[in-house]
Amino acid sequence: MNQSLEDQIARLRWYHRMELQPGLWTPGSMDGGKRLASIGMPDDLTGRTVLDVGAWDGFFSFEAERRGAKQVVALDSHAWDGSDWGTKDAFDLARKALGSAVGDIQISLTDLSPATVGVFDVVLFLNVLYHVRHPLLVLEKLAEVTGDFLILETHVDLLDNKRPAMVFYPGAEFAGDPTNWWGPNPALVEAMLRDVGFSEVKLYSQTPTASRMACALFREKTEQADRSVVAQQGRAVFHALK
Ligand SMILES: C[S@@+](CC[C@H](N)C(=O)[O-])C[C@H]1O[C@@H](n2cnc3c(N)ncnc32)[C@H](O)[C@@H]1O
Repeated sequence: MNQSLEDQIARLRWYHRMELQPGLWTPGSMDGGKRLASIGMPDDLTGRTVLDVGAWDGFFSFEAERRGAKQVVALDSHAWDGSDWGTKDAFDLARKALGSAVGDIQISLTDLSPATVGVFDVVLFLNVLYHVRHPLLVLEKLAEVTGDFLILETHVDLLDNKRPAMVFYPGAEFAGDPTNWWGPNPALVEAMLRDVGFSEVKLYSQTPTASRMACALFREKTEQADRSVVAQQGRAVFHALK
């Protein structure tokens, strides 16, 4: 018996909230649509090739395709390999339901190279950097597969520190997630991107100070977090050109 799309969606675990048919949404906790403006994905990607590194359920891959990209490849490992983060079933169902031609490749970031994936005009590296144990090594690999333009979004820390610096989070210290390793500050992300070969790097957006302060106060009240530490943390998006 054919299951309805609604039933198939309900059977799976979702990260991204996406509309697969008019009015039919996946129940993910991450609303990519709300992040689009802060990421600054070009409105028109006509004729461009796009690699979405750490794509998970593929919201940003499908969005790049919707914006006219001629080829989009979604890349992931942890979230697709059936270990603790889940499987690729949700990505596969979304692709089918959307009638999408987005390609996929299941490899680890450490195996990224022009030989394994090719070179793409635009590379998306959204909320992955802080999960990476060896950030500079992986940024070197990302630079090799970026033909023109990289959009990098990451958790950031030490925001009052203007010198390039990064916090190491041992164990599950940051947000209870043992895969969160690093909290770089914007000066460090910019310096690393230049170091690995991007000629122009700019901070495109960053969590506003007022939001950080509000979050710090809230977490101090609700979980006795150190307000001065939390106030230094946020999200930032960088645009980098080869
Ligand atoms: C926080 S999620 C971000 C998902 C999506 N890019 C977004 O911004 O909504 C991090 C993603 O990076 C992937 N990831 C983490 N480490 C990886 C690695 N070493 N190789 C490939 N993918 C990795 C995870 O599987 C997960 O899909």
